[in-house]
Amino acid sequence: MTILVDIEKQLFGLQTKSSLYVLGVDQLGLVRHVYWGERLESLEYFEMNPIHGITSNERPIDMTPEEYPVFGGLRYKEHCLKVNFSDMTRELVYRYAGFTANDETLVIHLEDVYYDFKIDLHYVVHEEYDLLERFVRIKNDSTDVVEVEKIHSAQFHVPSENLNFSNYHGHWGCEARLYREKVEFSKIVFENRRGISTHHHNPFFVLDKQATETSGEVYFGALKLTGNFSGVVEPTPYGETLVQLGINSHDFCLSLEAGEEFVAPAIIYGYTTGGFEKMSHILHRFARSKMLREELRPVLYNSWEATGFNVRCDEQIKLAHRAALMGAELFVIDDGWFGQRHGEEAGLGDWYVNPEKFPEGLAPLIKAVKAEGMKFGIWIEPEMVSPNSWLYQQHPDWIYHYETRDNDLARHQYVLNVAKPEVKQFIYEMIDELLTTYEIDYIKWDANRPITQAGAKKDVWYRHIENVYDIVRRIKDRHPTVLIEACASGGGRIDYGALSVFDDVWTSDNTDAYDRLSIQKGFSYIYPTKAMRAWVTDSPNFISRREIPLLFRFHVAMMGSLGIGANVLEFNEDEMELSKELIAEYKEIRPLIQDGDFYRLENSSNQDYQFYQYVKDDEAVLFAFLPKTQLPHRGARIKLRGLDRFSAYEVQFSNHQVKKSGDYLMKVGLDVFLLGDYESEIIKINKI
Ligand code: GLA
Repeated sequence: MTILVDIEKQLFGLQTKSSLYVLGVDQLGLVRHVYWGERLESLEYFEMNPIHGITSNERPIDMTPEEYPVFGGLRYKEHCLKVNFSDMTRELVYRYAGFTANDETLVIHLEDVYYDFKIDLHYVVHEEYDLLERFVRIKNDSTDVVEVEKIHSAQFHVPSENLNFSNYHGHWGCEARLYREKVEFSKIVFENRRGISTHHHNPFFVLDKQATETSGEVYFGALKLTGNFSGVVEPTPYGETLVQLGINSHDFCLSLEAGEEFVAPAIIYGYTTGGFEKMSHILHRFARSKMLREELRPVLYNSWEATGFNVRCDEQIKLAHRAALMGAELFVIDDGWFGQRHGEEAGLGDWYVNPEKFPEGLAPLIKAVKAEGMKFGIWIEPEMVSPNSWLYQQHPDWIYHYETRDNDLARHQYVLNVAKPEVKQFIYEMIDELLTTYEIDYIKWDANRPITQAGAKKDVWYRHIENVYDIVRRIKDRHPTVLIEACASGGGRIDYGALSVFDDVWTSDNTDAYDRLSIQKGFSYIYPTKAMRAWVTDSPNFISRREIPLLFRFHVAMMGSLGIGANVLEFNEDEMELSKELIAEYKEIRPLIQDGDFYRLENSSNQDYQFYQYVKDDEAVLFAFLPKTQLPHRGARIKLRGLDRFSAYEVQFSNHQVKKSGDYLMKVGLDVFLLGDYESEIIKINKI
């Protein structure tokens, strides 16, 4: 049983493998949160006690941990839903109107006591993944328009104060910087207002009580939304902490016509006593099994850092040849192949093949790529248009704009109003035609600037993304084998909204292997390494100017979906040989990397080692990195994780081998010794 119901006490329990979430309807008719924590087998001892204030200064409604507080009455904490009725009544008063449940879904039905307005709270139990999912559906059954000013997807309650809150901060080139801060007595707000992307904060929350990587209570949730989200953490005066996530109400308003409904984006959420590692495993396993396509991601070559906008058919064919020699399985041509796209200043929107760069069209390149046994991929930025383009000349009204204002340019481009049906259709048809005309197996879908001059309707921030998702879904329905990567100026589209429709994400334009270690580590807390595109690029790196040996660069990129982004025409024979060997090695360990459990191991040495481990069935692989050696130095002893205590393992270092039991490797550890700067090693651990 995953859904427990006690009709008499009006209590509901959502049971996963190791957690339980309880809610119910209280004496005031409020839907109250009751419990979120370790699993219990029944609701037998749960009670819905009345909430008493000590004096009349305290109002029960403001003290109640509500599942889905609405704006209205004596509520002054964060609310999830605020609507305006046509007669200017600006508050909701709901009553409980029953529930429906089946094996894995519970719906609590609420309705306004006066207006014909319904709120359904949906809960889905993913029992074996130890994860729950929530979303809300609102419906205007009246004959008048209802304006929705705020709709957050859920509120959660943790019955403690003094928690820690974690999220990402960042910027272009330094995405997924995980931070952890104390929740004190002011609210914490984290959000995105840019429309297209967010490098700056991310739509998830993690609240922990002194958790470590491997132990302690962690409450977490991630919103399936790209674009304008907001989250708030609020400590209440009553010793608990609430947290919300949903569509950002900044510059948002939704008109719900008579009879219309709206479903807010879902949140996946969970609880564990196993620390951050367990949280990551829960999210990764769910993403891999229930969201992402099953197949292993191909090793790709992308020509962006090698040739920039200056793509020419003959040179791309040469690159493809070298990439194939190394063992790449997919050749992706990036920006610059279309329209008059010779730089950032022109061409977006004109999705015809540039005749000077490709005198015979794309066919010769695709033919050469396929002849090398590789798949073919292509870059597009379909939500954008350059002022200097045929598309903009034809349809100046297709961009977000105001008649009386100048349009802001960013990266020399405008954003198409994808919320308009004709624009949406244009994008869909353009991509469909591209995929129908050419044998294309992979798309890198980019979006390189935020929205401005958003137009008259305040729901456009959300409608834009909703339409992007819809186009991607329809394209995948029609072209089911094509993989689509989400990119937004690097890692601006890393979220579970994107991963609901796209197949992987571009992690960052920062391909410096040293910086990538921290970006990738941050990424791994919430998002699965299978979806994490990582390239080996040239040294010195184009951003950091740092020189890093090829082996270290490869090892870092081998921690996700491997790609090569270097100018391989400049590689000497040794570099070609090493690349070939490492790509072959990656293919061997790829099932573990992409589909195994990922461990961030503790470095207890005095050196700046970083250790990451992957485990799948009887195999494990350990990545050891030492960016810089300092004295004194005697190596590190590293405790492995996730092995079978009672089995023996063969541990294969690059130049020697040892045999140890799982118990030994996890309790005593493995001695690893690297010396020098930017040293790295991959160590394979196989059950005997
Ligand atoms: C963005 C992407 C890059 C590359 C360029 C092309 O910056 O993040 O990887 O595709 O656009 O213009």
